Amino acid sequence: MPKFYAYVAEKDGDNFSFGKKELDLIDLPEGEVTIRVRYSSVNFKDGLASTPNGRVLRSYPMVPGIDLAGEVVACSNASFQEGQPVLVTGYGLGVSHFGGFAEYARVPANWVVPLPQGLRLRDAMVIGTAGFTAGLAVKRMEENGLRPGQGPVLVVGATGGVGSIAVAVLANSGYEVTASTGKQSEVDYLKSLGASQVLSREEVSQESSRALEKELWAGAIDPVGGKTLAYLLRTTKYGGSVASMGNTGGPELNTTVFPFILRGVNLLGIDSVNCPMDSRLQVWDRLAASLSASQLDAMAVETPFDELPEALSAILKGGVRGRVVITL
Ligand SMILES: NC(=O)c1ccc[n+]([C@@H]2O[C@H](COP(=O)([O-])OP(=O)(O)OC[C@H]3O[C@@H](n4cnc5c(N)ncnc54)[C@H](OP(=O)(O)O)[C@@H]3O)[C@@H](O)[C@H]2O)c1
Repeated sequence: MPKFYAYVAEKDGDNFSFGKKELDLIDLPEGEVTIRVRYSSVNFKDGLASTPNGRVLRSYPMVPGIDLAGEVVACSNASFQEGQPVLVTGYGLGVSHFGGFAEYARVPANWVVPLPQGLRLRDAMVIGTAGFTAGLAVKRMEENGLRPGQGPVLVVGATGGVGSIAVAVLANSGYEVTASTGKQSEVDYLKSLGASQVLSREEVSQESSRALEKELWAGAIDPVGGKTLAYLLRTTKYGGSVASMGNTGGPELNTTVFPFILRGVNLLGIDSVNCPMDSRLQVWDRLAASLSASQLDAMAVETPFDELPEALSAILKGGVRGRVVITL
């Protein structure tokens, strides 16, 4: 049986460790599809998984990594061919089932997505869970009536993974995009992705005693939460949608019912993990069709497998721009 390298999180009482180890194929969990992983990526959740109190991993020892892309090495049913390029994100990957921070993975066949036409394996991981979540948010907003021409769509936390892909997908789909960021040095980056206006993080996280403020946004994408989500609900236009998928700015929400009952604002919860496969495939096809290789390259930072721990601690400090791709 070939040996391979993986990052493993282990916890025994108060003793936590996260480091590179040699594993054997027989150490992998059950599943119909064995994959040679070529790329993974770094998401905020992966950062949490590498810390003792991240509350992400369901059991130990665990190979984290909620994203992977590679080639099928073996499939015990007829779902996939040997050599076929595939990707996996979400479900239990890297949380309750060994994930993408390993040279090999074995997963259930019904978690596996064939690599969408037009994407390279690396592109799939520039997108990863963060980008998939942005794509799912745009789909849900459009299902709730969002269309180009209704006014600006605000993307907050815009230099992050979810935010960067959201800016690019919306702009490429004909929307007027306003981005907000805590990194004033990245205004040009956000404009290069398609934002027409860039606001500061402070402007979109102000508190107010008013339940409703001037209607500004046709829709909003919110990976930040907390005071920012309250601001978005107060300032979204009549009938607009706010997609909430994250909490880098805090998990609490202090709001009133008035945006909902006086403006018909939709608060859309976005969950990428258990998204059904039919929607999942639609989102991947939309992302593949609407993002160019040069745009994806512009938001990608490639990091070798050996430097994964540094990349994980950087994302927890909010210091990452775009998407970090891990090369295995
Ligand atoms: N629901 C789901 O299925 C799902 C899927 C993927 C991600 N998420 C969640 O979405 C969030 C973003 O994920 P990500 O992978 O995009 O992370 P990321 O790459 O680290 O981006 C998060 C961005 O949030 C902003 N930010 C960081 N700290 C902040 C603070 N204290 N206050 C306000 N803004 C702050 C920063 O953007 P600026 O500097 O540009 O402001 C940062 O780049 C996380 O909470 C993650 O867990 C959820």
